[in-house]
Amino acid sequence: MNNAKIITITGAAGQIGYSLLFRIAAGDLLGKDQKIILKLLDITPAMGALEGVKMELDDCAFDNVEDIVCTDDPAIAFKDADIVFMVGAFPRKAGMERADLLSKNAGIFKVQGKAINDYAKKDVKVLVVGNPANTNALIASLNAPDLDPKCFTAMLRLDHNRAKGQVAHKLGISTEDIKKVCVWGNHSSSQVPDISQMEIKGDANCPLKEDMAWIKDEFWPIVQKRGAAVIAARGSSSAASAANAAICHMRDWCLGTPKGEFVTMGVPSDGSYGIPKGVIYGFPVVCKDGKYEIVQGLPIADYVKEAMMKSYEELKGEAEEVKKILG
Ligand code: NAD
Ligand code: LMR
Repeated sequence: MNNAKIITITGAAGQIGYSLLFRIAAGDLLGKDQKIILKLLDITPAMGALEGVKMELDDCAFDNVEDIVCTDDPAIAFKDADIVFMVGAFPRKAGMERADLLSKNAGIFKVQGKAINDYAKKDVKVLVVGNPANTNALIASLNAPDLDPKCFTAMLRLDHNRAKGQVAHKLGISTEDIKKVCVWGNHSSSQVPDISQMEIKGDANCPLKEDMAWIKDEFWPIVQKRGAAVIAARGSSSAASAANAAICHMRDWCLGTPKGEFVTMGVPSDGSYGIPKGVIYGFPVVCKDGKYEIVQGLPIADYVKEAMMKSYEELKGEAEEVKKILG
């Protein structure tokens, strides 16, 4: 066994937390041979519920869990963290866009970005799940000046997995046969699911890529509005699928993407594909040795490019809104 990795989860008493913690503890993130210490952060009124979650974790007797710390203090939660899942934030309700959460959630990411800067390991890997995820990741990163901005990423993996799921459904095949799908842009209804590089069982020639009626009238709206559809059906926002996507994102970042595959992560743009530097944007990436790189040189169809720029414009607007809120 290696040294224990410290994994911090914010909003640990919430509904995503309830799915995420048990899967991480069971070894779905780093494997059953990796010892872990879980640091669970929530707000003071949630400490009772969080203790209950800890009791259940204890009752699972996971062999690789060395310690579980419950706290409402970011300094304790982020101390020496190797991996951080920033889930703690208010979810939207029916009829809201994710950006409507900015005024409620921006302050959380300012305070916690600073605490990550001050207490976490310098090469910490941070995944922001709380919405609006891209802009919250930007806020956290801007408040962590001593860390490489590449430490901060946002979750578009749920959108990526949704896109794969819809293709599998349409073609009547297994998702394991589908590679090189991605979702560009913001984790919002402006996101751009893209199958132009898709391979089915290693074959890039798939007639579905030319089916513009399906792409524009079914595939895009279903994936773009899936979060709202789940809220309408369940009465609360996606939780188990979000937790699963968070594990997929972080596992690939830590352990590497499978050969011949790329995945979608919200990462700071380096100017690739005409997206201005710094904005946290969904890109296709490959991960190796604990690092991610944006896949370069993919041909982009005009209709995709146009939608990508619209999604960027939306993120630019959110960043301006943040300046007004946080000063
Ligand atoms: P939830 O309300 O069930 O849980 C949120 C938890 O965060 C609560 O326990 C709450 O007490 C805690 N919290 C609030 N402020 C906090 C703070 N300052 N510090 C620490 N904890 C704090 O919500 P949920 O369903 O778990 O969703 C959490 C967030 O994830 C929401 O913003 C939701 O919109 C978002 N989300 C994102 C994606 C994605 O794909 N990026 C998917 C699903 C949900
Ligand atoms: C989702 O995509 O399911 C989450 O971002 C929750 C939401 O508000 O849609």
